[in-house]
Amino acid sequence: MGTFDRILSHDESLIKNENALDFDFIPKIIPHREKEQEAIALVIKPLFMNRTGRNIFIYGSSGVGKTLAAKHVLRELEEKTDEIRVVYVNCWQQNTSYKVSVSICEQIGYRFVQNKNTTELFQVIARIINDSSAVFVFDEVDKVEDTDFLYHLLEQIYKKAILLITNYESWISDLDERVKSRLMPEQMEFKQYNASETASILKDRLRYAFPEDVWSDEAFDLVAKKAGELKDIRLGLFLLKESAYAAEDKAKRKIELEDVKKALLKVDSFTIKNSADLEEETKSIYDLVKEHSGKKIGDLFELYQQRGGKSSYKTFQRKIEKLSENKFVKTTKTTGKGGNTTIVEKKLTEF
Ligand SMILES: Nc1ncnc2c1ncn2[C@@H]1O[C@H](COP(=O)(O)OP(=O)(O)OP(=O)(O)O)[C@@H](O)[C@H]1O
Ligand SMILES: [Mg+2]
Repeated sequence: MGTFDRILSHDESLIKNENALDFDFIPKIIPHREKEQEAIALVIKPLFMNRTGRNIFIYGSSGVGKTLAAKHVLRELEEKTDEIRVVYVNCWQQNTSYKVSVSICEQIGYRFVQNKNTTELFQVIARIINDSSAVFVFDEVDKVEDTDFLYHLLEQIYKKAILLITNYESWISDLDERVKSRLMPEQMEFKQYNASETASILKDRLRYAFPEDVWSDEAFDLVAKKAGELKDIRLGLFLLKESAYAAEDKAKRKIELEDVKKALLKVDSFTIKNSADLEEETKSIYDLVKEHSGKKIGDLFELYQQRGGKSSYKTFQRKIEKLSENKFVKTTKTTGKGGNTTIVEKKLTEF
């Protein structure tokens, strides 16, 4: 029997529904976030009565279900009515008011964006949306380089609800006064899950993704324990998937402790957020760090310029900081012969 025949004869997957382990999968029910989803629905509710909605500022650490809860409410809204438009923008990808306006245009079906500036695009957006009403979600809003887009929406759209999502509670206090005074958002913190909530969320996801009895109890308990310790559901999802692959590689019918241990060795390649969400330039800087991990920030900047990077050193530094805050890269300050510098590495999670 040839190598492939041998390998492929064990091709039965242990995973029933792999999508359910994706970070952006939206389960039907979202446990432990009922109250938060209701708060979101309440700011939207006035739109159903043909009045303008309210605004809400949502903050909390990474992986606590902010994006998921918002998207789940939006999905329910879309199922309930066609009258209210829904716009979702990830501000890490769309990180300027211009890009935000183009994204909104795309989402409301307006295609003729070429040769129009931000102000003109917002005029178009207002014309289209003011026939009805809209909910806008700006996720990762702290990554946006200017907040003019909020001013445009606040001034020009009559009936709207705006949701702003970020990791940083302080973001709102630094907001431009003219925007803040118009926005007057409610504030809601998403608190971290405790260990038993983390375990129950992962157990639910496991039921979506795997046939019954594939997981040994002690193997799942280790996944839940690690995810609980690091307060990170994404890590739990990553381990569920990688452990299944490890077991499949050995053509096993059950996932056991040894498979989770093998998966834990791979945690290094796990990124807390999805790198596909990064805007192009930040992504290329991230790729550069991955290739040249452990270099000084100044040397990295030189490489960046050699590859045609156009941003200033300050902007480059800021992007590295953002990557570090979100655990894509690790930065360490050191003092050497030439004074203080920062070493940038790709290392992420420590065990
Ligand atoms: N209550 C929950 N039920 C089911 N899955 C959850 C729940 N909370 C979080 N998750 C899952 O955990 C992962 C992280 O959630 P989410 O993306 O909403 O985090 P976040 O708060 O937006 O984090 P970040 O600030 O890093 O963007 C997702 O894969 C999501 O499906
Ligand atoms: Mg999020």
